[in-house]
Amino acid sequence: MTERKPVTLPRLLEMHAGGEKIAMLTCYDASFAHVLDEAGVDVMLVGDSLGNVLHGASSTVAVSMDSMLYHTRSVARGSNKAWIVGDLPFDSYHASKEEAWKNAAELFKLGAHMVKLEGGGWTNETVRFITERGIPVCAHLGFTPQTVTSLGGFKVQGRSEAGAALLKRHAQELVEAGAQMLVLEMVPAALAKEITESLPIPVIGIGAGVGCSGQVLVLHDMLGISHGRHPRFVRNFMEGSSSIQQAVRRYVEEVKAGTFPVDAVHGF
Ligand code: KIV
Repeated sequence: MTERKPVTLPRLLEMHAGGEKIAMLTCYDASFAHVLDEAGVDVMLVGDSLGNVLHGASSTVAVSMDSMLYHTRSVARGSNKAWIVGDLPFDSYHASKEEAWKNAAELFKLGAHMVKLEGGGWTNETVRFITERGIPVCAHLGFTPQTVTSLGGFKVQGRSEAGAALLKRHAQELVEAGAQMLVLEMVPAALAKEITESLPIPVIGIGAGVGCSGQVLVLHDMLGISHGRHPRFVRNFMEGSSSIQQAVRRYVEEVKAGTFPVDAVHGF
């Protein structure tokens, strides 16, 4: 078997252009990073969802920059193949683009290859500022967990005509500002497919249907070890698997084959 090469940004853009699906999972530590790397996960997201699954918080808003730095360093130490995305937590990129750059640079120096931030419109200048200075940015639109309070709860976004138009506009503007990947969360499958097909960058869906360039799930959700109610878009890959390694490999295989997600089961 030929050894897998490290995943690069040009490779991810090529996968999007060629219709080759991208398998992404969240990851928060070195041991899991090693497992995910071995299983062929293309992208690991050190997500601020660690506030929920590691810290037991009810939202991501209290996650600190220090926590993100700690876990990003751990994941980078455990992985040598996957593309690593580090989340900028709430209040780390809101006050000014200069502060956003400083925090992005901290994640970058510890091994993140790209940083992720939530929101459209007001984030354009920040995305431009960070990407022009050499750090790739992944944007996050649709349901944005850091603004769960103002969104009025865990709600599908882009259902109305106006909501869909706004999402499309924000996605386009973020690409123009320099974003090189987009996460779309809890968006109707047809809209997510349309956005994916209209953009030159990979669009990674979570509850956004099979028509995206790839998929992401929270690791603890797809292993069935996070507590509480799971959203409809989650599938427990430990069911029918004899090990964590096998569950992650099955996730990668199903994302690549386009058999996960099934829009009628996991979509909106
Ligand atoms: O923090 C996270 O895990 C995320 C995913 C839900 C995409 O942003």
